[in-house]
Amino acid sequence: MAISPKIVISDLKAPVNGILVVITNDDLDFGPAAKAALKPSGDLFQRVAKIEKFKGKRNKVLDLAAPAGLKLEHVLVVGVGKAKDMKAEDWLKVGGTVMGRLPAAGRNVTVLAELPGGKLSADDAAQVALGMKLRAYKFDRYKTKKKPEDEEKPHTVEIKLGVGDVAAAKKTWSRANGVGDGIILARELVNEPPNVLFPVEFARRASELKKLGVQVEVLDEPAMKKLGMNALLAVGQGSERDSRLVVMRWNGAKKKSETPIAIVGKGVCFDTGGISIKPAASMEDMKGDMAGAACVTGLMHALAARKAEANVIGVIGIVENMPDGNSYRPGDILKSYSGQTIEVINTDAEGRLVLCDALAYTNERFKPKLMIDLATLTGAILVALGQEYAGMFSNDDKLAERLTEAGKVTGEHVWRMPLGPVYDKMIDSKFADMKNTGGRFAGSITAAQFLHRYVGKTPWAHLDIAGTGMAAHNTEIGDSWGPGWGVRLLNEFIAAHYEK
Ligand code: BES
Ligand code: MN
Ligand code: ZN
Repeated sequence: MAISPKIVISDLKAPVNGILVVITNDDLDFGPAAKAALKPSGDLFQRVAKIEKFKGKRNKVLDLAAPAGLKLEHVLVVGVGKAKDMKAEDWLKVGGTVMGRLPAAGRNVTVLAELPGGKLSADDAAQVALGMKLRAYKFDRYKTKKKPEDEEKPHTVEIKLGVGDVAAAKKTWSRANGVGDGIILARELVNEPPNVLFPVEFARRASELKKLGVQVEVLDEPAMKKLGMNALLAVGQGSERDSRLVVMRWNGAKKKSETPIAIVGKGVCFDTGGISIKPAASMEDMKGDMAGAACVTGLMHALAARKAEANVIGVIGIVENMPDGNSYRPGDILKSYSGQTIEVINTDAEGRLVLCDALAYTNERFKPKLMIDLATLTGAILVALGQEYAGMFSNDDKLAERLTEAGKVTGEHVWRMPLGPVYDKMIDSKFADMKNTGGRFAGSITAAQFLHRYVGKTPWAHLDIAGTGMAAHNTEIGDSWGPGWGVRLLNEFIAAHYEK
């Protein structure tokens, strides 16, 4: 990580030096502290704004030479357009945009977090800081030749957010910072190469959450064999690397006996397709086929770090799908944990085999209020929704509605797709209870129908994140290949409904 900014919340009276960031709107107004700071420069800002055609539009930045008489390097003026229309996600993006414009390292940065018309709320200020933290993340561990700007030491940027209610903002930021660490953990896991992050190593990293007070249990192959998780085990059978199932528990609810909610993740550390091997083009991307499990792990980190007042179970099935003399084959019939039998048609439809055992086990053992699974499950969801929305499938309208709302708040959007008997029958098998693929059409839906057969009556939502969970394009909040998608979504979902 090139920059790991230390973000400090302080009041507006704190001395300003280094780089100053001020917020303006599309009337080019400033708050009182920014006005005072810019005063020595006279009408410099107005003149430069005119030359540069800077209109204060959202996420546009104007770089100003520092006014004389102040210990400043320069001033970044960032536009927010119509300030009253700014939502949480927009403040996050402002933070990211600002960080993207800062020189690499070692500078003192002061962000005057105030609005032209008044104070910025503690929540919005925390979003600005979170956006900065996320944008600063870089995955460059394996580069031995760093760019000169990355070599500058020390790699810290101290950001002082000047806000009205400093105590409130400090508290809010300490929680948002924990969520940020969870997102960065999820990114890190997705970015790691598959020779480094194999199932046992993934389980070890998840076990580190114990330090934050998360209870972590790791099931090895003999334990899973004993439980009858033959679908999950079949996928890992062709790999030299052992499979694992990890159960993480955060018991933060005021009432300790509160029924938990459960989040389940697909963790295929590398997906070659197995005997139904994938073509070579872009196969390296399949190191990200554990993005669902990464999200669950990052979420558990976030919940523990911010001491969420909810009981949440995180379960991840972690395997590697390889071709080998001992691999599972098309034609094999597997007896899953639930007792239902599966005819394997295609060994590349492995994610649902991992999840069906993880879901059925979670449901039976914990009897959760609801279950949500995340999985890079089908290429077909990329065809349908691209990289902008995750596909959502649910047997419960209220749950679907709440996830949609959390998506709107965080900008991690989900789009509901259909389920129903007409799709369900597409996975009936001639030889077993079901087959693991449903043919060429409706690929994401038949995959979801498969999972649906393992959740009983428990309210459940499946998020197909093959498009959103990996190979992310650059945004205001980062250029990481693994975006850490879903941590903010589920954190918001839990905060909004399960911590009251
Ligand atoms: N991990 C893949 C899905 C995937 C594709 C994720 C592209 C991210 C980007 C999954 O295991 C898979 O191979 N699915 C098959 C299912 C098919 C064999 C029914 C697919 O989508 O082609
Ligand atoms: Mn596959
Ligand atoms: Zn896969």
